[in-house]
Amino acid sequence: MVITPRRAARRLFAAALIALAVAAGCGDLRRFAYAGFGGRDSWQHPDRVVESLEIQPGDQVADLGSGGGYFTFRLADAVGGTGRVYAVDVDPEMNEHLRAEVAEKDYANVDVILAEYADPRLPETGVDLIFSANTYHHLQDRSKYFANARRYLQPGGRVAVIDFSPDSWLNRLFGHATDADVIRSEMIAAGYRLERELDFLPRQHFMVFAVE
Ligand SMILES: C[S@@+](CC[C@H](N)C(=O)[O-])C[C@H]1O[C@@H](n2cnc3c(N)ncnc32)[C@H](O)[C@@H]1O
Repeated sequence: MVITPRRAARRLFAAALIALAVAAGCGDLRRFAYAGFGGRDSWQHPDRVVESLEIQPGDQVADLGSGGGYFTFRLADAVGGTGRVYAVDVDPEMNEHLRAEVAEKDYANVDVILAEYADPRLPETGVDLIFSANTYHHLQDRSKYFANARRYLQPGGRVAVIDFSPDSWLNRLFGHATDADVIRSEMIAAGYRLERELDFLPRQHFMVFAVE
């Protein structure tokens, strides 16, 4: 993709806003920043992402680092009324907003969970898929995190990781990105094998892992 000065300025503004929002503890600003700036769908391709996960009606899915719920409702539509989505985040303020939106939109198949930094606190009955968008780079000690998360996966369960690529100087500058090799090697160390790697997202890696 050609980075024009205008595009670079917009990205710089976006990254600065996220950094500011996190530093200032401002929930509204964070939700605005995570949701993107109007055009996120054009590069995030959310419907294609969800479609490619091959989620079945009745599935149990965790949206790890659900933030403002950009993917939560799409995942909830995919699992349908007999399935369940656990929207998991460590940020109580974001969770409050999301809980209100879930109620307002009348989604009975979404539970919002306050996670611990080292543990998603999912139900012990387990899930079919742990989905994580733009959150991987936030996690600490990721091999340990996902090794622990295996106990929340039902047999045949998968982990899908979407995270920004550090190809752009801006992502490198703000640290909101992870190298593809790093994701692969950390997940393998955590006891997973790479099942699929999808390449239709222009700014992000998209990998699906299964328990080894
Ligand atoms: C950049 S936002 C992404 C939000 C959403 N997935 C999206 O794509 O719009 C990252 C989210 O991960 C959350 N987060 C950070 N560390 C976490 C952890 N250890 N467990 C769960 N969520 C975490 C943050 O609070 C934030 O809401």
